[in-house]
Amino acid sequence: MVILETDRLVIRRFREDDWKDLFEYLSQEAVVQYEPYGVFSEEDCRKEAVSRSQNEAFWAVCRKNDHKLIGNLYFKQQEPLPFLTWELGYVFNTAYWGQGYAHEACNRMLKHAFEQMGAHRVMARCNPDNTSSWRLMERLSMRRGGHFRKPAFFKKTDDGKPIWHDAYQYSILDEEFAAIEGLNT
Ligand SMILES: CC(C)(COP(=O)(O)OP(=O)(O)OC[C@H]1O[C@@H](n2cnc3c(N)ncnc32)[C@H](O)[C@@H]1OP(=O)(O)O)[C@@H](O)C(=O)NCCC(=O)NCCS
Repeated sequence: MVILETDRLVIRRFREDDWKDLFEYLSQEAVVQYEPYGVFSEEDCRKEAVSRSQNEAFWAVCRKNDHKLIGNLYFKQQEPLPFLTWELGYVFNTAYWGQGYAHEACNRMLKHAFEQMGAHRVMARCNPDNTSSWRLMERLSMRRGGHFRKPAFFKKTDDGKPIWHDAYQYSILDEEFAAIEGLNT
């Protein structure tokens, strides 16, 4: 089983007993605001931890010093598989925003993608209103490749109408990542 490490973090598969830390952040309105789901209950999180423990796309991000699970990455290969493109997602507990943890975890995952998994391209999407998300992508040297006009909705109005939202798409290519790594070594 793959475990990724950085100076401050361990990035590992989910376990069933992660539900409490999962509940701590998936119950926060600010965390789920731009996600395709609402806040989770304790019971939802017990089930979610079991489900994530069986799903290789979800990675738990934990601090090395106290083993606290502070957020998660989502990392999944897209179809068609020969195009070697993975989608990256990230959701962190508000108590750990603004400390560079999400950047550290995502950057490690990009290194894993390009250097171990043979990825050609890693992409991510977000609502343009989610400034924290696209600023993170730009800190990761991902480049905005598109602004899509209302391609999707996650929520509906009280009378059942879709609330369509725009989406930015960002990506980074293997040669771009290698060039940045080359500068840092
Ligand atoms: C998107 C999200 C993960 C970004 O988290 P974040 O903490 O802002 O991102 P980073 O880890 O890159 O941290 C950067 C901040 O930490 C600061 N920082 C402090 N110490 C740092 C360090 N050692 N290294 C790097 N940055 C550091 C930076 O200056 C920056 O601060 P700023 O935002 O005031 O400019 C977070 O807002 C989140 O979980 N949102 C809810 C879920 C969500 O919307 N996900 C995306 C769906 S598309």
